[in-house]
Amino acid sequence: MNDGVLVIDRKGIVQIINPEYTRITGVTADIIGKSLASYRPGAQLPTILKEGKSRVGVFRKNENREYVVDMAPILVKGEVIGAVSVCKSLTEVHKLSRELERQNEKVVELERQMSSLYSVRYTFKDIIGQDPRLMKRIEVTQKASVSNLPILIQGESGTGKELFAQAIHEASHRRNKPFIPVNCSAIPANLMESELFGYAAGTFTGAVKDGKAGLFEMANEGTLFLDEIGDLPFDVQAKLLRVLEEGRIRRIGEAEERKVDVRIVAATHRDLEHLVTKNYFRGDLFYRLNVVALHIPPLRERKGDIPAIIQTFLPTHQPYKVDEETMRFLKLYDWPGNIRELKNVIDYAAVMAEEETISLRHLPEILRKQSMDVFVEQEHRHATLSDLVSEAEKEYMLNILTRFGNSTKERQKVADILGVSLATLYNKMKKHNITS
Ligand SMILES: Nc1ncnc2c1ncn2[C@@H]1O[C@H](COP(=O)(O)OP(=O)(O)OP(=O)(O)O)[C@@H](O)[C@H]1O
Ligand SMILES: [Mg+2]
Repeated sequence: MNDGVLVIDRKGIVQIINPEYTRITGVTADIIGKSLASYRPGAQLPTILKEGKSRVGVFRKNENREYVVDMAPILVKGEVIGAVSVCKSLTEVHKLSRELERQNEKVVELERQMSSLYSVRYTFKDIIGQDPRLMKRIEVTQKASVSNLPILIQGESGTGKELFAQAIHEASHRRNKPFIPVNCSAIPANLMESELFGYAAGTFTGAVKDGKAGLFEMANEGTLFLDEIGDLPFDVQAKLLRVLEEGRIRRIGEAEERKVDVRIVAATHRDLEHLVTKNYFRGDLFYRLNVVALHIPPLRERKGDIPAIIQTFLPTHQPYKVDEETMRFLKLYDWPGNIRELKNVIDYAAVMAEEETISLRHLPEILRKQSMDVFVEQEHRHATLSDLVSEAEKEYMLNILTRFGNSTKERQKVADILGVSLATLYNKMKKHNITS
């Protein structure tokens, strides 16, 4: 037993005490055979013999020991033949309650860390740019954010897909619920299913004993951001589609289904439509995810936004600026790594430029090596008439393209407005580096 036990006979002589009684009260076994009343003058058990009634929860304290005692007479055919005392140590209760308090503090701290881990940092206000094509897309996405419609974000690496996903969550009714990002390309294919849907107790050897909730359950009432969705294994795609259609998940190894309420935002830098035609991505899942389509244009197609974006990346503790020549250079470069690359370049240059003005020599060498020749040539060349015409052509094309979608039918409308054939339109788009 965990409790201490002491038994006296009808004469008040101690007959039994267990080791726990000694541990809790300090009374040792040499009390056996002696009168309890004379050995421990304060003892209440002899009174129980006389009264024949039990008492529970009597608090006792001697020296540094605290304990609670229950006492009862032992009755045989209505006659009192002895009495028993059972005690529990309070020191242990105190210890346990202190331990519980410590564990509770830990839980609170972990919850705080979790929520900061998943807390969203960006809103639509943080998305910098005035480019009309981007503005129009932001407007549509903002409207869709409030709904529960799935949104598929497509754009090259570093164009801000994650930023948009966070902004969508922030603008939705789910903003105070979890935002759970999942990088589909970072999770090994054989773990993907258990990560997404969880597993039941005892499913895998070495797995968490009580089973584990999947990311879908963690995102319940919030947003699940499926990043790099193009890399989702084909068999998991079918399971994901089923979950999206039914709004229920089943942990691996479990029979029962659980209802989940999750908003899906997916993103990829790959051309998903192309993957569908190649049978690498399920068409049915694509249409399910692509209810609202957000194509983010690459930075080279909206170079006009470069100065404003640079401004947000410059350190604020000093009045940093970029000189005009350097700005022209940065606008000439094609930014294959898009805004992420631009941010890295500016971070680097700001460290190199101690005197608060960023000049060409502060830019990373690799960037200068790559583009300096073209830049110098450009700088020393006066714009020809055909340059100006070409620039105006591009600007006008972008202006009209923005107003229509990117299906062939819509593109035909654009071609009609511009008074060229569809083939010419595509050729000119290619010439001007306009991708979508
Ligand atoms: N419009 C923007 N205004 C300000 N900062 C931006 C903008 N778009 C992107 N950024 C910044 O650029 C960096 C890259 O953005 P993000 O991680 O969202 O790109 P991504 O499209 O998810 O890239 P990848 O495909 O490589 O994952 C981030 O530091 C982000 O804050
Ligand atoms: Mg990303």
